[in-house]
Amino acid sequence: MRAAALLLLLAAAGCNRTPSSSSAPVASGFGVAIVGISGEKQTAGAGATLDQPVVAQVNDAQGTGVAGALVQFSSMDGAHFDPPSGLTGSDGQFSTTVRLGGASGRTSLVATTQDKSGKRVQVTFAEIALDYQQTLGQVLNEKYCSRCHNSESTAERVSNHDNLSVAPHAFSDGATLNQISRANLVAIITHGGAALSKSPEMPPYSPTLSASDIEALTAYIRAVADPPYRPQGVFNANP
Ligand code: HEC
Repeated sequence: MRAAALLLLLAAAGCNRTPSSSSAPVASGFGVAIVGISGEKQTAGAGATLDQPVVAQVNDAQGTGVAGALVQFSSMDGAHFDPPSGLTGSDGQFSTTVRLGGASGRTSLVATTQDKSGKRVQVTFAEIALDYQQTLGQVLNEKYCSRCHNSESTAERVSNHDNLSVAPHAFSDGATLNQISRANLVAIITHGGAALSKSPEMPPYSPTLSASDIEALTAYIRAVADPPYRPQGVFNANP
């Protein structure tokens, strides 16, 4: 029994090593820098696939894209890449599809390449994995809030943001939203702007949403804050 388990372990360990050594392509070009092109700051449920691919570009000293450079993606936060490595195209770019790890929280993705001398350079992409409650908040946000709080229109909805006399903030606007206490977030969502001497264009949601829906929305707002939300007291503990 034990020998069989050990064999399985060895086989698994071998499997982990095989793709990077045998199937990783060999670089035909080398740059000196790697930069992020797109796919940063996406939000999805833990374990879900990000909507947009993550794209890195390898550049030469002049900042021009280098074709044929090897890019390898990795993550300490359990993210999975398809493909995890490959060569840059004629534009110097390499694109991968990302499935987030199973744990919620900030997720860092690292893209690495090597210059001619073998020195590694890398760029980090920050993504956000939502837990179950935060994912519910994201769904409710899309349904009820984002038409006013998000200034961009999508195929499914036209933004109302620019028609409002007082501009609401994007929920990712941590500089503003992190200043508002949880109790006040709940209050403005529950009772609306007018009840708090704010703009009456912010509707009251107590007729539409349950208390736990409103908790989910505040959890989502905290999860997507940029800069990240830091609960009070964490800093006070070490004066
Ligand atoms: C019809 C447009 C509209 C919708 C829909 C809307 N809001 Fe607002 N919201 C506003 C406006 C306008 C303000 C700014 C109020 C002020 O500062 O006087 C605001 C302010 C807020 C604030 C205070 C922070 C800020 O952005 O200034 C929070 C929190 C908030 N809304 C949450 C929500 C949530 C959660 C939903 C969805 C359940 C939602 N809002 C839906 C218009 C809207």
